[in-house]
Amino acid sequence: MLSLLYISRVAVAPALWETALIDIQTVSTARNGGLDITGLLVATPEWFAQLLEGPAENIDLVMISILADPRHRDVRIVRREAKTARRCPLWRLAKFEHGMFESTYVRPALACAHDGTESEPLRQLDRLIEHILMGGHEQQPKSAVTGRHG
Ligand SMILES: Cc1cc2nc3c(=O)[nH]c(=O)nc-3n(C[C@H](O)[C@H](O)[C@H](O)COP(=O)(O)O)c2cc1C
Repeated sequence: MLSLLYISRVAVAPALWETALIDIQTVSTARNGGLDITGLLVATPEWFAQLLEGPAENIDLVMISILADPRHRDVRIVRREAKTARRCPLWRLAKFEHGMFESTYVRPALACAHDGTESEPLRQLDRLIEHILMGGHEQQPKSAVTGRHG
């Protein structure tokens, strides 16, 4: 099983952000379910970070679409590794609007990991992902979390 983590910059206008997330969630729930892909999409008004887990050939297939998607740019794959177990058994969206938690934890973690400016840039992001997967933060609205699909 493959685990892939990428970070990208949002390329939709702020007014279209919510709609874009709904569209991405709808297509992902339908498509990933059939491909045995799970993971977590972290979304802020400026950044995306997505963890994808599943069969390598299926992730590579979906990544062709994701890389060509004009709703984001500067897609940087920061980790690609073989795993025996999934970190995230569902496909989930964690949405963070501008706010204290977003500006203090989410934005810096994503920006640093994308820029690769720290010596261990992924540690902060990994902790954030763990935090979200463990039950999350109060700013992670229930409605933004999808259940099992397929
Ligand atoms: C940040 C981001 C994350 C996405 N995640 C997924 C995903 O996990 N699964 C998926 O099928 N599509 C995802 N999409 C949508 C794809 O880019 C694409 O629109 C969709 O898979 C349809 O594929 P197609 O355009 O090749 O027909 C994502 C798009 C963005 C911008």
